[in-house]
Amino acid sequence: MTDAPKPGFDTLQVHAGSAPDPATGARQTPIYQTTAFVFRDADHAAALFNLQEVGYIYSRLTNPTVAVLQERVATLEGGVGAVCCSSGHAAQIMALFPLMQPGKNIVASTRLYGGTVTQFSQTIKRFGWSAKFVDFDDLDAVKAAIDDDTRAVFCEAIANPGGYITDLDAISAISDDAGIPLIVDNTSATPYLCRPIEHGATLVVHSTTKYLTGNGTVTGGVVVDSGKFDWAANDKFPSLSKPEPAYHGLVFAETFGPMAFTFHGIAVGLRDLGMTMNPQAAHYTLMGIETLSLRMDRHVENAQRVAAWLETDPRVEYVTYAGLPSSPYYDRIAKICPKGAGALFTFAVKGGYEACVKLVDALELFSHVANLGDTRSLIIHSASTTHRQLSPEQQKAAGASPNVVRVSIGIEDADDLIADLDQALSKATG
Ligand SMILES: Cc1ncc(COP(=O)(O)O)c(C=O)c1O
Repeated sequence: MTDAPKPGFDTLQVHAGSAPDPATGARQTPIYQTTAFVFRDADHAAALFNLQEVGYIYSRLTNPTVAVLQERVATLEGGVGAVCCSSGHAAQIMALFPLMQPGKNIVASTRLYGGTVTQFSQTIKRFGWSAKFVDFDDLDAVKAAIDDDTRAVFCEAIANPGGYITDLDAISAISDDAGIPLIVDNTSATPYLCRPIEHGATLVVHSTTKYLTGNGTVTGGVVVDSGKFDWAANDKFPSLSKPEPAYHGLVFAETFGPMAFTFHGIAVGLRDLGMTMNPQAAHYTLMGIETLSLRMDRHVENAQRVAAWLETDPRVEYVTYAGLPSSPYYDRIAKICPKGAGALFTFAVKGGYEACVKLVDALELFSHVANLGDTRSLIIHSASTTHRQLSPEQQKAAGASPNVVRVSIGIEDADDLIADLDQALSKATG
């Protein structure tokens, strides 16, 4: 044991979970492009299947490349374990799966990515689950929405599309009182800007498709477990605290303690739902994570400059960036995301829906895509795309009214981004 100081974030984003490949010495994490792994003998196979020994069986469950990414994200988030999935949406289902049963509900913020609103308001109903949406700035409403059948509280740290900042300390105090887990989608903030577990989150989910990969190459997701929730404190979470019939009666909380959720996620969740991340995707995401802090600093610096410029422009009605002193969320930055308010926000264009559509078409450097968290600057008119399935009331509550566009500010030269917005705003409102 050395008394060396704990490595910092920049060191961990490069090294956590990885080591030179023991077979070849390869310094970069190899892509273990294999479906299955040879057992040493029959006893070894039995021990792996009984979860008495940790190792590799089949890549739907575990894969060495994916395992490095799992450990890296768990470390950066300050969790005890993580399970990678095929997409951010898959991660959300994987987070809820061990907690939910037919008839149970979640309490979710109205300010979420539009696809998540649809997943929670429509698709999960097919499993007999439901969601109650409330304004997470109204703490009394959050408290009142929790009932005996609530099994989780769900929000985004920096909420898509408006870049609103959730008071995670206040929300986790409510979920703690109710004895239910808080799940935080940390996609837009990343563990560099916000560490939800330090603010009381039980589980953190990510669309790794976004900033963690950072270059718009692969879809992926991850669920990180804080290891802090006592699943056996009551009877609400039988998959974790009682004999699990889907794994020959194993009691995950008893056998794995703080790792219960992670082991359940792999042994039951990935085994039976199969929403597995492939090793190629894990490789691209590992490459991206190595530069996460450098990129996020630049994303934030650029977002700050572009938002400040937009706010003073007469063609713009308002800008939602929390990094602006005019934002009602400005005071939360120091507490929730001290390294900056991210790079995702909306602005309202004078001229409404028509002007927004023209603006999107007139931009040359910004790409018009349904994505965020790329090195490139991206723009989308949420009301006609990502939030299209939502009612006008839901769009308004989510901050995606027809007169606003959402931008994800990239790492290019801020002057070039401002010049592009300037010429496009002239065309859109001219
Ligand atoms: C905040 C947030 N969470 C989750 C998702 C879903 O992620 P994925 O597209 O990887 O399924 C998205 C996608 O845009 C998102 O923006």
